[in-house]
Amino acid sequence: MAEEAILGYLENHEEIPDSGQFATDNGLDHNDVINVIKSLHGFRYIEAQDIKRETLVLTEEGRKYAEKGSPEVQLFLAVPEEGSISKEELQKLLDPAVFKIGCSQAAKNKWVQMGNQISRKVQHVEDRVKDLLLRIQDGQEPGKDDNNSLKTRKLTALQTWKGYSVKRGPDYAPTRRRTATDLTREHLLGGDWRNIEFKEYNFSAKGPPPESGHLHPLNKVKERIKNIFRLMNFEEMPTNKYVESSFWNFDALFQPQQHPARDSHDTFFLKAPETTKQLPEDYVELVKRVHESGGYGSRGYGYEWKREEANKNLLRTHTTAISSRMLYALAQQSFTPKKYFSIDRVFRNEAVDRTHLAEFHQIEGLVCDRGLTLGHLIGVLQDFFSRLGMDKLKFKPAYNPYTEPSMEIFSYHEGLEKWVEIGNSGMFRPEMLRPMGFSEDVNVIAWGLSLERWILGSSRKTLYALLELGRLRNASALSSVPSLVFEKQIRLSLCLGK
Ligand code: PHE
Repeated sequence: MAEEAILGYLENHEEIPDSGQFATDNGLDHNDVINVIKSLHGFRYIEAQDIKRETLVLTEEGRKYAEKGSPEVQLFLAVPEEGSISKEELQKLLDPAVFKIGCSQAAKNKWVQMGNQISRKVQHVEDRVKDLLLRIQDGQEPGKDDNNSLKTRKLTALQTWKGYSVKRGPDYAPTRRRTATDLTREHLLGGDWRNIEFKEYNFSAKGPPPESGHLHPLNKVKERIKNIFRLMNFEEMPTNKYVESSFWNFDALFQPQQHPARDSHDTFFLKAPETTKQLPEDYVELVKRVHESGGYGSRGYGYEWKREEANKNLLRTHTTAISSRMLYALAQQSFTPKKYFSIDRVFRNEAVDRTHLAEFHQIEGLVCDRGLTLGHLIGVLQDFFSRLGMDKLKFKPAYNPYTEPSMEIFSYHEGLEKWVEIGNSGMFRPEMLRPMGFSEDVNVIAWGLSLERWILGSSRKTLYALLELGRLRNASALSSVPSLVFEKQIRLSLCLGK
């Protein structure tokens, strides 16, 4: 209403000089008019200039006297025309404030004789105060003296009135164009997207606060396992690099260049940067030699080792790539025994489905010391896994290019009532350690397992305990987090009654 009135008026007039007057003339509420002016101004339909006016208004007390008469007149009228009235009697007839003010004003005006008995001194009085107040209410200005005395008696006050004068703005139009917030199918089909004005994005608008938030379940478990390693005095390896060269991921680990894992069907190779720039040349030479012709009691693989293969960059397929870098660095110093661990992301070229992702997290631990045996490895594994709630372990001989002997680790699953494979382990081969520079008596025992697989294989009880899943169940925010296939997997294994 107000909007149409304002825009319509400006179509034929230069200006609305006073929004207050405009509201009165059009029978509109001035507050409504002001709101519309602000909005139209924001969209540059109009230009608005503040106007301020001070008006004299009655205070609450003033309004009372305008209605009922001034206290002095009220008091005068309460005094009998003839004779007198006692102070007490008179007080009973009037409001206390009216009595008090009335006494002093009427005495000042010499209208009454004050004392214990009060009597009239004049026959007739006029209520000038009331008249003044009524005139002010009507919008008239009192004279200077009256004005001052009313102000002193706190019967009037100045009120600032705010309004606007309004002119057409740079984007003026007689009716407001509605801006669209969405481009719809209908807009596209009907072609009216051409003429539609779209609302601009408000990039500083705050989004709705999320209803809940929590740590990602993987991160929770990761932190717990890190703590187990820390309790066992293991140091964390710096795994903050996903891109690795084939050299550190495979060659340094005595993994032959024809190994099927080095095929692009299994590994993501990088297009840019396609190859690594720097490798420690002396060490590369020793690795090449051990692959081609062995040494340290090994016959090697007997093939022609190619530098180009080693240079190819890839997304690391296991965190053992970091272990090989760390062990190489360790071998360059005077020997100190070390216990290292890492938990981080690895990548494999898998077809993604309900139970497979192309990336997962690997937990890896290793101990490097003189004179370590398979017995030490079994002991460390038993210690580590029992801290994860797995006491019953079994080991099965296995094969890894970089470990000998190698063992698959099985744990008895109480829920499934069967042995489940949980990890892989072994003692790093001399073909891997000796070229790095370790002496013959130094051994490395190591193991690796998938964080996700382990969690999914865990019993319901372990899952609840580790993930505090209770808190997860109603966290609807989760569904909006990408790549929560994992989260779904956990739920699924719970449904399956593990
Ligand atoms: N790197 C192995 C894997 O990807 C795990 C492993 C680590 C095995 C260390 C033996 C020693 O499965």
